[in-house]
Amino acid sequence: MNYIITPISFILIIISLSLLSCTKDKGPIEPDVNVTTVSFINDIQPIFNADCIACHNTANNQFYGYLDLSEGNSYNDLISVVSNGYAPEKRVVINDSDASVLWQKVNNSLLYGSNMPLGGSLSNTDIEKIRVWIDEGAQNN
Ligand code: HEC
Repeated sequence: MNYIITPISFILIIISLSLLSCTKDKGPIEPDVNVTTVSFINDIQPIFNADCIACHNTANNQFYGYLDLSEGNSYNDLISVVSNGYAPEKRVVINDSDASVLWQKVNNSLLYGSNMPLGGSLSNTDIEKIRVWIDEGAQNN
């Protein structure tokens, strides 16, 4: 047995490396930003106000997924609430972003249908804020 790299194995190595790099383009976004402390009132609700309530608000008849993300209602409609479309999964599992439908629906994982906001995507910073908020205990702070 010798370990000299023959031209054939060299080509195989190049092919496998390029396949690996292809798979990196798909799947969850891993935001390259550093977010530390997140407040629900000051950081998360403003994201919902800007990008979500047009479609997730009981008041204006756009109540998709039976999810209300308007101020004063969003927190209770998320925490430990079983998802309408993806039961038995929960919208937010405290301290566990991976298990939370909310996080999976904004990070482009496509595990639970379309990415949110429908037809677009949040900034990397906003995506990371949602993850950190959940993993810091999803507090109403
Ligand atoms: C243009 C309309 C639209 C916008 C804007 C939008 N959504 Fe949605 N959302 C939908 C529709 C339609 C569904 C139901 C289909 C589905 O689950 O993908 C949905 C479902 C969801 C669900 C699943 C609810 C459940 O329990 O089944 C979550 C979580 C969600 N959206 C989060 C968000 C967040 C967070 C934002 C803002 C960042 C957002 N959405 C913005 C249309 C929208």
